[in-house]
Parts: sequence; C-alpha cells; structure tokens
Amino acid sequence: MPSVYVKTYGCQMNERDSEAVSAQLVARGHTLAANEQTADVVLLNTCSVRDLAEQKALGKMQSLIGVAKKQKTGQKFGFLGCMAQSRGAELLEQMPGLDLVIGTQKFHRTADHVEALLAGTARRVVDTAEEAGSQNTIREHLVLAETPGTPGEIRPPSVPAQISAFVSIMQGCNQHCTFCIVPSTRGEERSRPIEEIVAEARALVARGVKEITLLGQIVTSYGKRDYPVVNGRGAFVQLIEAVHAIEGLQRLRFTSPHPKGYGADLIEAFARLPKLVENAHLPVQSGSNRLLKLMHRGYTRERYLEIIQQLRTSKPGIGVSTDIIVGFPGETEEDFAETLSLVEAVGFDMAYVFKYSPRRDTPAAALPDQLPDAVIEERHRRLLDVVNAVGIAKFHALVGRTVQILVEGPSRRNAARYEGRTRCNKIVIFDGNERHRGQLLDVRIERVGTFTLYGDPAVVGLDNAPPSVATDPAI
Ligand code: 5AD
Repeated sequence: MPSVYVKTYGCQMNERDSEAVSAQLVARGHTLAANEQTADVVLLNTCSVRDLAEQKALGKMQSLIGVAKKQKTGQKFGFLGCMAQSRGAELLEQMPGLDLVIGTQKFHRTADHVEALLAGTARRVVDTAEEAGSQNTIREHLVLAETPGTPGEIRPPSVPAQISAFVSIMQGCNQHCTFCIVPSTRGEERSRPIEEIVAEARALVARGVKEITLLGQIVTSYGKRDYPVVNGRGAFVQLIEAVHAIEGLQRLRFTSPHPKGYGADLIEAFARLPKLVENAHLPVQSGSNRLLKLMHRGYTRERYLEIIQQLRTSKPGIGVSTDIIVGFPGETEEDFAETLSLVEAVGFDMAYVFKYSPRRDTPAAALPDQLPDAVIEERHRRLLDVVNAVGIAKFHALVGRTVQILVEGPSRRNAARYEGRTRCNKIVIFDGNERHRGQLLDVRIERVGTFTLYGDPAVVGLDNAPPSVATDPAI
C-alpha cells in the first residue's frame, strides 16, 4: 500500500487538520510513512498567518522536489491548508514537480486526490473550492467558494490512543482583524452542533483521552448565530458545560479565544467548572488604543486590563498568556511603549511575540508607514526581553511548590524521563515510567530549565483522584 508522509508547518489548527487527513488516509488503506524519504506521497500542511511558515514550507518543498527529481523516486508532492487555499493554482505554476494543492475546505477529498495521482488518472490537481469540471485538469478556483456545512465533513478523526486531544468546534473567523489572512483562508465562521462535538469528545474519552482542547480560530464566538443565550450563558459556555459533564474527562482547555469573548459567563465558568483549567489565552496584539483600533480588535487597553482583573478575581492564580504583534504599520515609539507597559502591568505567564508580516489582500498590508525590518527587529528584541524576564520569574516562583500534572508520556526533550503539563500548561519533566502515563500526579518542583520545570513525584499513583490539598490547582 502506498505510504504518505504528512508534515505540518504552523498552528494547532493545522496540526489538528493533519491528524484528520492522516486518519482519512489510514482509513482508506494507506500507511503513514515515518519520514519524507520513504514516503510515496509527501503532503505539507501549511499555515499562512505569517510569512515565515510559508517560506519554510516552500523551501522544504523545493528541496524535496529537487532530491526526488535527481534520484528519480517518482514521489508525489502536495500542499494542504491555508497557504494552499490562498495561493491555489499559482503554486503549481511556480513549482514544477508539485502535484497537488488542497485548500482548507477540501481536506475530506485528500484521499481521493492522492489515489487519483498515484493511479495516473489525475496529473496535477488544485482543489481549493467547490467542485467544477474534472480532476485531471488544473483548475483555478479562487479563494473560498464556501461550502455550507463543511465543518461536518472535516470530522471525526480516528486519532491513535492519546492522553490529550483536540476537538475542532468551528471553522473560520468573522472578526476581520486588519493584519490577518484567516478570513480569506478559512472563510466565515461555521460552528459544529453541540451534540456532535460532545459525541466526538465522549468517544475520545472512552478511548483513554483525559484532556480535551476545544479548537477553532475564534472559539469564543462559537455558536453565536445557532444557539440563544440561556440563563445569561452564551453558546460557548453552554458547549463547555456539555463537554465538562463527560465522565472520565479530567481537563478541559480551549484555543484560540478573542479577549472580547471573555464575558461574565465565561469568566464565571472558570470559578465554577473544576475541569476547566486555570489558563486563559488573551491575544492582546498591542497595548496602544490607536493601534488596537487600526487593527480592528474591538477592545481598548482599559477593557483588556479589566478582563484580566475579572479573571484573576474569579480564579486567583489563573495563568494568562497572550499574542503580541510588533511593527504593525505606523507603530510609533509611543505606541510600542504602551505595549511594553501593558506587558509589565499584566505580568503574562507566557507571551508569543510576532514580527508584523504583511499578508496578501489584508487591509494592513495596504496601509502607509510599513516599518523598516530593522525597527521591527529591534522592538521585537526589546519586547522579548521584557516578556521573558516576567515569564521566567513566574517559573522560578514555582520552585518548592507542589503542582498537579497530567502525564503525557516520555519527555520530548529527554527520552529517559517523563513529562506532563500543569493545569496552567507548563511542562514538567520528572523521573517517571509507563505506568504514569495518563495519570494525574502531584509533583514537587525542584528546579527550572529553559521554559521547563523539573519535578519530583510527591504523591504517586493518584489515578483520576482530585488534586490533593497540598497541590495548588492554579499552577
Ligand atoms: N503578522 C504577524 N503576526 C500575525 N498574527 C496574525 N497575523 C499576523 C501578521 N500578519 C499573529 C497574531 C495572532 C497569532 C496567531 O499570529 O498575534 O494572534
């Protein structure tokens, strides 16, 4: 049977899509290759939120095609995902040797296209929008002819037994932040029904999954048009409650939310629902009201700080992380200083700092005053210094304390050890073994590595037990 290698460049959403595509290929009798060299078909699933992921994937593809040509391997190559969606047929034109381009609405057709290529019934395929014509001609379907109901077609995956799993709850985004390419690569918001999501989550838990992360581009907007507010609780909180009720589930997370989605109902849910971990991601993007407006973010610095305050009141010790963009067009030194002061004021546990990258057909790419790279680089470094200093101090504050981790398996950094995550999503490495996998374990933090904690199991074998009194759950 032909083997396929699927590699992901980019975000969790893409990781999740790659899992679903892999499951589809396996269900159709293909095997998953261990690496690019041994695969009959190589698929790169690529994010286009920032230019870096695109460039990496393009470079990788170029070199794979080069090697395959030289060694006459006869391998087939394809791009999946956001970049495939936004660049479409242009990719085939620019890259001789590329065989397949599949957009974000068309993952469910991956196996069909792969088989057609391998059988020789299709030569080169672009599938980025609704069907028209035959498969063996190159079709230029421009971005996003939306298919109603497509979210249903993307599920459900048959992922291998694992401790922590993603469940896709929605696709697309209607926020239209001026820097962001997602509305054109993923389209309008479409939410899956609550029952369908709960059924998928329940099946995962029955297979041993202990932690579920609800996944979407803007999860806090989940189901707004589909479900009425009930007792002051919006659709997203109703969904959280329904998944939270699944017996055997230990932890519930979600990503990525929008700050404006942290209404009173969600903030209160953190205090009320014990499986909802104390970890909130609130992508702020900038500390300057002027830039927040230009970015079309829908909140002010003051409102943002108020939400953080409310979260910390509802759930003391909650971990707070963020995304920040430096060098948005027209960002002045004063705007940047506002971002620095916001970072200091909040004290984020973690912040992902991105250099602004102009994306095609986004309003920000057409703004005047695009900043020189050198300015962006310099601000990026300054901000990282502040972010890291705050984040590292938070790690050091944990030394000597006992935290609850969910053990995921052998450590990715040190195969001789095991690792798990705290409820606040920090990785803890400890001396464990296979019997710890999937267990909730109390560990005492001994020391700090580079964004990692090293722990010693304080109480072993707490399978499924609630955290002991010694544990501070909010870590
Ligand atoms: N340039 C830089 N960063 C971006 N992001 C989204 N679009 C861009 C862009 N054009 C960042 C935002 C977002 C994260 C997923 O990626 O910070 O929250």
